[in-house]
Amino acid sequence: MLIGHQSAVVDRPTLYTFHGVISSTQGFTIGSSPWDASCKNKRKAAGAALGRAAIRGYFDMFDLESYCVVRDLHRDSKGGEVEVAVRPYIQRYALNTTLTLCYGVRMDSVYDDMLREILEVGSAISLLRSASENYQDYVPMLRYFPKNEKNRRSKKLRDRRDKYLNFLLEKVREMIRNGTDKPCISAAILKDEETKLTGVEVSSICLSLVSGGFETIPGTLTSCIGSLSTKEGQAFQDQAYADIKRHYPDIKGAWRNSFQEEKVPYVNAIVKEAARYYTVSAMSLPRKTVSEVSWNAAIIPARTMILINAQAANHDVEHFGPSAATFDPGRWLDEETSTSSQPTEKAAAGIQHFSFGAGSRACSGQIIAQRLLYCALIRLLSCYKIVASEIEPPNTDYVDYNQFKSALVAIPRDFKVKLVPREENVELVEQCLAEAKERTKDYYAE
Ligand code: HEM
Repeated sequence: MLIGHQSAVVDRPTLYTFHGVISSTQGFTIGSSPWDASCKNKRKAAGAALGRAAIRGYFDMFDLESYCVVRDLHRDSKGGEVEVAVRPYIQRYALNTTLTLCYGVRMDSVYDDMLREILEVGSAISLLRSASENYQDYVPMLRYFPKNEKNRRSKKLRDRRDKYLNFLLEKVREMIRNGTDKPCISAAILKDEETKLTGVEVSSICLSLVSGGFETIPGTLTSCIGSLSTKEGQAFQDQAYADIKRHYPDIKGAWRNSFQEEKVPYVNAIVKEAARYYTVSAMSLPRKTVSEVSWNAAIIPARTMILINAQAANHDVEHFGPSAATFDPGRWLDEETSTSSQPTEKAAAGIQHFSFGAGSRACSGQIIAQRLLYCALIRLLSCYKIVASEIEPPNTDYVDYNQFKSALVAIPRDFKVKLVPREENVELVEQCLAEAKERTKDYYAE
């Protein structure tokens, strides 16, 4: 459906609550824009900012943000004595990445007020955005009920979101005036280096990138860490660590090279398995047919909303075999050429899994997303053995790990882990952190 009928399913539906109320001021995100000339331009601009060719420009950002994740986890876990919840650190990682891309700004503290406000409002909007959340999207009469709680909440969230989006854009304007702006999408457009996009389109692109990454990355990486921390996960960590050492005998080398390349096959396998197993956007983003589609002898009329059950596709036993419901990075390794000491990846043939969607409206951020997951895992796994808390263990069921089933993007249930320093690397970790601190100290400094 997504590949064979690419152009017929290129459209997205508009829903009353999300499009009519929440998005009335900043424009639609790319992922919720119907297919028209403006959406085409926005998707093109996002594609250029997030594509393989652009990634080199973000090395400093990957280096700094993944360093900050380990720096703060290292500080707060106190040599493995204190159990930590990793999600807030990863939320900052994801959000800072997109804020840097869009506005050239970042927030250093995990509990920065603005950071928490953006995350809180974004999550609340994501709950209202899902195609299965709002009856009033499908039963128009409900919209006119007095004391419409959904509309009241949506308008409040819209106003809170407008406040920080306008603040960020104003901050970029001020930095341009002072000559202190950093290379980023909004500065490029405000300085008119890029053409053809309107103000609302610029806001929409920034909003798309901020909302595209801030829950998907934490959902995937946090849950992945949950699976790795279990008893079965220890073997995956050991294999990953051995493979990291095979490519970088000195852990400092792994740190220095973790953001420029994705060279360690076993870590790549973990990244793919995390994305597949925890399909964080279980029903993907809804599409709409622009023309009639013939599907398994059925005719789907034009202008029909299509919901894609990506979670089911990713756990299809016919494709992934009887172990489809098990977290197993090994499925991405080439059985014929891999040995236990030298894993090699299966050659990628076609769509590997459906977590990033597919076809004409597939995720624009998947290259960056993969690099963020890889880089954080290389750094964390080279420093620590991650062990699940006995009191607050992770839920690793691929459906039940999610607290809110009707949200657009899964929010993993809370859990804690112990970060046990790898004995042979205790001193090296301090050295890696000190080196990264020195290397990144001027990156994105205000
Ligand atoms: C693990 C991380 C991520 C996951 C699982 C994910 C998943 C998805 C999915 C399922 C879609 C809909 C695809 C379709 O309809 O076929 C999508 C669209 C999109 N994603 Fe992501 N995403 C991730 C990270 C990111 C990041 C980091 C960004 C931006 C920096 C981003 C930007 C976008 C945009 C702009 C779209 C809309 C594309 C369009 O409608 O044309 N995503 N993503």
